Amino acid sequence: MEFRHPSESRTILTDLVLPGETNPLNNLFGGELLARMDRAAGIAAGRHSRRIVVTASVNHVAFNRAIPLGSVVTVEAKVSRAFTTSMEVIIDVWVEDRQSGEKTKANEAIYTFVAVNESGNPVVVPSIKPETELEKKRYDAALRRKQLSLVLAGKMKPGDATELKALFI
Ligand SMILES: CC(C)(COP(=O)(O)OP(=O)(O)OC[C@H]1O[C@@H](n2cnc3c(N)ncnc32)[C@H](O)[C@@H]1OP(=O)(O)O)[C@@H](O)C(=O)NCCC(=O)NCCS
Repeated sequence: MEFRHPSESRTILTDLVLPGETNPLNNLFGGELLARMDRAAGIAAGRHSRRIVVTASVNHVAFNRAIPLGSVVTVEAKVSRAFTTSMEVIIDVWVEDRQSGEKTKANEAIYTFVAVNESGNPVVVPSIKPETELEKKRYDAALRRKQLSLVLAGKMKPGDATELKALFI
């Protein structure tokens, strides 16, 4: 069976925060960061599947730190797990100190993408083999997150979410 490693989908977008992209506090506007994360995650999902991909859901976003005007922002996206037609992509956002060059984690997010054909119908994607400890941890937890996302979207009955139930039993 065809498989890929998470590192093969690794996508890095580095860009500045410009005046048109900020809120009244002169920090990066949340919607702009969501768009950058969506773009990077979409490229990562496309690299894993080599297919057209669409965003199926945004499962988690944490805006932990404001990102000031002029900052250099790096958005790093990697597929953490591939299911049948869907892929979970984890995005880490880093802000670079202009003087020291040191990068600090500012935000993170988890998106689900689905690979589709030209008609927009879901198609099967290659499986994934995690390599590093972090990749293995993220892979293991991805099924729980998928079930939670499906339950919240009303696409799975809570009683069928076996991985979630196992957390409580
Ligand atoms: C995403 C989309 C292709 C799913 O189509 P669908 O007919 O619901 O297909 P399915 O029910 O077979 O789901 C396909 C996969 O997506 C997963 N999925 C669907 N909704 C999900 C959700 N909310 N959270 C997590 N996974 C989800 C399913 O579990 C399935 O995964 P699997 O095959 O790996 O097990 C379809 O809803 C779509 O085209 N949506 C619009 C996408 C778009 O335009 N996005 C841009 C934002 S405007």
